Amino acid sequence: MRPAVDVVGLSRRYGRVQALDGVDLSVAEGEFFGLLGPNGAGKTTLISILAGLVRADAGRVRVMGHDVVDDYRAARRALGVVPQELVFDPFFTVRETLRIQSGYFGLSRNDAWIDEILHHLDLASKADANMRSLSGGMKRRVLVGQALVHRPPVIVLDEPTAGVDVELRQSLWSFIRRLNADGHTVILTTHYLEEAEALCGRIAMLKDGRVVALDTTQALLSRNAGLTVRLVARALPPAWLPRLLRRTGDTWHIGIDRPADLEALLADMRVAGMHVDELTLDEADLEQVFLRIMQSTPAPSARAPATEGAR
Ligand SMILES: Nc1ncnc2c1ncn2[C@@H]1O[C@H](COP(=O)(O)OP(=O)(O)OP(=O)(O)O)[C@@H](O)[C@H]1O
Ligand SMILES: [Mg+2]
Repeated sequence: MRPAVDVVGLSRRYGRVQALDGVDLSVAEGEFFGLLGPNGAGKTTLISILAGLVRADAGRVRVMGHDVVDDYRAARRALGVVPQELVFDPFFTVRETLRIQSGYFGLSRNDAWIDEILHHLDLASKADANMRSLSGGMKRRVLVGQALVHRPPVIVLDEPTAGVDVELRQSLWSFIRRLNADGHTVILTTHYLEEAEALCGRIAMLKDGRVVALDTTQALLSRNAGLTVRLVARALPPAWLPRLLRRTGDTWHIGIDRPADLEALLADMRVAGMHVDELTLDEADLEQVFLRIMQSTPAPSARAPATEGAR
């Protein structure tokens, strides 16, 4: 089956920042795909190239077989992007905004679908409100609606739930899930890793513009899972600091591979005279897997010392 989105050798530099560094990715039709990575990893840059808003320095991208540069119009029509930044015209109402967007795609009688979108995004009561009068979360809902007006086969959501309340999150996800079940390909970027874990069948993790992990969510969880020790203590033996996933005050989260590691940790603590106040052992979730993968991937300077000359 042809991929819905096909990315080959994609690179983009902004001044001294290599935002994308040779990314290869293929998302099959019908997938619910997660694109994860820390701030600045290159996710929005990748999505902007997909949407034809930013030009790549090297590589190519196809959406439903259409090259985003050579076949821009067809690629754009196959794609609905919910952008990370809130951009809209404050003087139009919500319904006008969606009608105008429909007009861009030559859809003049689209009101039945627009009504359905408004309903699912819980915006029906705001249909005639001016965009400038909406709250931040409501504006984001309109952005989601705008991306969907032309029923694109590929839907890309760049942090759609940032600043959105719990209720909308639930209704948004059930709407997007339904679209996915109807055959739409969905690519999602989010920093809420429990959302990605629940929704995405496959996940790519980006760091410093490179794909550092790419697999089914299940495989990522089981391959990198291990266990997480959460302990409350004043200090941690220095030898265990490389295993530290997260620390808040006296609470330390440490990744271990097998129960025997826990014995070793406790023995080290005892020898060092460090007292453990509290201890729990958890199965790793996607957040912990993510932290492990990010920690174990060296910085770009350490990866390619010869190719990046000093400037
Ligand atoms: N227009 C621009 N001009 C200069 N640098 C840019 C521009 N856009 C992105 N960058 C840089 O490229 C890198 C990747 O940015 P990008 O927005 O793609 O990251 P991201 O993964 O979407 O991050 P976030 O999770 O914060 O949204 C960053 O270092 C960023 O500062
Ligand atoms: Mg971004």
